[in-house]
Amino acid sequence: MRGLPVEILSRDSESITFACYNPLEGLEPLKVEEIPQDWTNWKHSFGPVEVEDLVILPPWKKVIFIKPGLAFGTGLHPSTKLALRLMVETLKEGESLLDVGTGSGILAIAGKILGAGMVVGIDVDPKAVEEAKENAKANGVFVEFCVGEAKEVKDSFDVVVANLETEIFKRVLADILEKAERVCLLSGIYGEGELKEIEAMISSFNLSADRILTEENWYALRVVK
Ligand SMILES: C[S@@+](CC[C@H](N)C(=O)[O-])C[C@H]1O[C@@H](n2cnc3c(N)ncnc32)[C@H](O)[C@@H]1O
Repeated sequence: MRGLPVEILSRDSESITFACYNPLEGLEPLKVEEIPQDWTNWKHSFGPVEVEDLVILPPWKKVIFIKPGLAFGTGLHPSTKLALRLMVETLKEGESLLDVGTGSGILAIAGKILGAGMVVGIDVDPKAVEEAKENAKANGVFVEFCVGEAKEVKDSFDVVVANLETEIFKRVLADILEKAERVCLLSGIYGEGELKEIEAMISSFNLSADRILTEENWYALRVVK
């Protein structure tokens, strides 16, 4: 049985009971169970196992390292999680990505890890840009991080993600939408009132959200151009 993927269920001095995925020649199984059809959900049950500073993960998980610092973006806030979820659903292999309000760099770094091509992250806070650069290095990915606002960025991008605030969107939404060639992901919208305000702003550009996610009264929208 050397080299076969089996899980030992019990053993004593005379016998071993084990589970395996394929029938073994010459052995009659005690019990046969079908692997669940919903393979994806089955995969979800393999969470991280932590032992001291070691974290054990199955190989299909994608890991992001974020050093605790002053910049926003540890991954705990619902607005960050919603933006990440929309990115996982939306971003295609090789697409370029602009992250407006990058903070710790978490969304830009996630973009790279998800297979994006060129990724740029911008923030008005120079300290955040410094921390984002350190985080990209810790993840072994290259992202161009700069201090500034969307209107200062020359290029346009397949995907633009922005986790900001409704008050800030009122000022910079036009610039953000202009930089997006295919899709724009907007997060940091709190409550139904703000959601309606953002939807009205988007419709003034003859656009609309084709996907809205929510968690703990925070909202994130996907606007396809
Ligand atoms: C809510 S944090 C988001 C951080 C990270 N992207 C995340 O999703 O967790 C918003 C960030 O946007 C930055 N910011 C605020 N106004 C901005 C603007 N007009 N242009 C670019 N960045 C801005 C802030 O400094 C802050 O780091």
